[in-house]
Amino acid sequence: MSMDEPDTRRRLDDMAQGLIGKPLDRTEGHLKVSGTATYAHEWAVADQAYGVLVRAPFAKGKILSIDKAAVLAMDGVLAVIDDDRLLRNPAQGTANEAPVQGAKDVVYLGQPIALVVAESFEGARHGAQSLSIEYDADESVAIDPEASDAQTEKPDEKQFSQGDVDQAMQEAAFTVDQVYRTPGHNSAAMEPHCAIAQWEENQLTLYGSYQMLKYNRNELADSLGIDAEQVRIISRYVGGGFGSKLGIAPEAVAAAIAAKELQRAVCVTLSRQQVFEAVMRRSETRQHFQLAADKDGVLTGLSHVSLVSNLPDETFAEPVGQATHFIYGGENRRIGLEVARLNKTCAGSVRAPGEAVGVTALENAMDELAEAAGIDPLELRLLNIPEKDPEQDVSFSSRKFRQALKQGAEAFGWEKRQPVPGQVREGEWLIGMGMASAARVNVLMQSEAKVTLSADGSVIVETDMTDIGTGSYTILTQIAGEMLGVPMNRVETRLGDTDLPSASGSGGSWGASSSGSSVFLACEDLREQLCRKLDCQSADLTLKDGQAIVRNRSHDLVELLGGESLQAVGIIEPGETSENVRQATFGAHFAEVAVNATTGETRVQRMLGVFSAGRILNEKTARSQCYGGMIFGIGMALTEELLHDPRDGHIVNRDLGEYHVPVNLDVPQLDVILLDERDDHASPIQAKGIGELGICGAAAAVVNAIYNASGARVREYPATLDKILPYLD
Ligand code: MOS
Repeated sequence: MSMDEPDTRRRLDDMAQGLIGKPLDRTEGHLKVSGTATYAHEWAVADQAYGVLVRAPFAKGKILSIDKAAVLAMDGVLAVIDDDRLLRNPAQGTANEAPVQGAKDVVYLGQPIALVVAESFEGARHGAQSLSIEYDADESVAIDPEASDAQTEKPDEKQFSQGDVDQAMQEAAFTVDQVYRTPGHNSAAMEPHCAIAQWEENQLTLYGSYQMLKYNRNELADSLGIDAEQVRIISRYVGGGFGSKLGIAPEAVAAAIAAKELQRAVCVTLSRQQVFEAVMRRSETRQHFQLAADKDGVLTGLSHVSLVSNLPDETFAEPVGQATHFIYGGENRRIGLEVARLNKTCAGSVRAPGEAVGVTALENAMDELAEAAGIDPLELRLLNIPEKDPEQDVSFSSRKFRQALKQGAEAFGWEKRQPVPGQVREGEWLIGMGMASAARVNVLMQSEAKVTLSADGSVIVETDMTDIGTGSYTILTQIAGEMLGVPMNRVETRLGDTDLPSASGSGGSWGASSSGSSVFLACEDLREQLCRKLDCQSADLTLKDGQAIVRNRSHDLVELLGGESLQAVGIIEPGETSENVRQATFGAHFAEVAVNATTGETRVQRMLGVFSAGRILNEKTARSQCYGGMIFGIGMALTEELLHDPRDGHIVNRDLGEYHVPVNLDVPQLDVILLDERDDHASPIQAKGIGELGICGAAAAVVNAIYNASGARVREYPATLDKILPYLD
């Protein structure tokens, strides 16, 4: 089915099993907490050897020679691989082809340049650290995107202009003209990247940790120069992705080459330091906002021009202005993006690329506009919600933006906020409140699933979808159980294997709505098949607890199947509804922060997020996604920052001790309110993506609260205490 028309039937609402939307536990949860869910490193393939990637110790230039002999002579070392097919960095999400190959051309410090394979991990690591390399370093290293000699590009398709912002700024009653900066981020998935490659003749099986298997399979095959049919990737459990596992990566290609050469399984695992150095980073951003408002606070002009960075030859550019296009009105608009070419770890998708940092800085600018105009920040947002997409003549598909703002304000007690900063003091702590809007584009991707209704009345769902900790196993089980009227424990959902029908993969928040739709469509087909047996219309068929009920007559499903099993394939494809309506998810963040009046330390005291993302499939897993996003928002606001040495770009804080993601002590009581809605344009299950919404704007609520508490206006993330101290008495 192609999503060309809104699906107003809302079939899931007609079902009787009562699983959809419920806060059900993860179906695979017991496997994870008991340590029996097999993650990539845990496959323990018989007789496997271990490979460790060798890092380039310089930022730019050419490898001239590698002295393999000395390392090959070391105890237990089996091979030194420096094949031209090695990858210098991972593929971008949905690339579907090999990323740049040729690891001997070095473009950043820490780039993998070779693989040492040994009988043991320790032996391989020793070999990798001992490998002697002769190289020709090019001293013209570019690290700072704002340097006067930085090489930058302005891709045409990333510039947008409407009306005249400069004139709007001149004529405005109130303006904001400020620059905000966000640093680079690491995805910081808990499970480090790992691939185990095993060949049988010319068939490769790769156990790995990846987010988008159908694309990854093509990327891996293309990198190796073989057919996709020769590749099988298995990623049953993924210990977090956050964008870092979207594309095939150096460890997979290196493992596959080594395993072929040695005729033996090879396992390549990255250390945490390698995850920081050689896996995608989020680009740092410089964001220039110009906001123009009339005397009532209504936006007349909005300009958002950003500078980001990436390696040479990479097309990905952090889409900073992605939601600025539609979140607020304003007749005169300019959204621009410039990319600096730097010798720093490849930039790619990390935790809501675009909106995570773009909406955040926008929401800081809006806070400044509210103050300039003397309007409550909440009121300013409500005033500027556009009726239609402000740049195209299209409506929003569904949007509980206003409701999220209002309901959140009420639940949080926003009316207690003091408009003038620094008014509330408890002992040595200054207390303040901040808020921000949340928005994220919604995307549907092609996805396919096969559902089998077995003769015994149980159900099997099969698709190569991944579950990166988000709840895919659970929601797909719920959808099949709901549609076919069987309890959760009668559905087995099989994921994470390219031998299964190709799914959308996990990324861009589209996994649940896309793969969920494919399962829904397959189940609709199965219901039709049952209707033919019962000679009834689908609308007259109720399936519940293994019974098929038609016109008050109940038939046992197993008897009805009569020893036969039924099978159907469901395929969802994006269609015209992705063009003829504006699809996005919305919400609102509220934060209360304490700032120490003497030291400038911050403590987030409580936080509330209100989110709407179409139908909520599982109230528990959806809520957990939102918690995760808000927690990463706290990280972005207060601590997370990739620090690069200005001389060679190497990442100085390349571990979770020095790159601080929030831990329990950083995270206060978080509350989430989910506003259920039905988006008929988004998918046949009326769901939109919720995975990344929680981080979008979250950090701004915290930083706006810091201002309200203390008067410290921090425009350079993270808001560490050295940036707050100068504002304190
Ligand atoms: Mo996401 S950053 O597209 O996994």
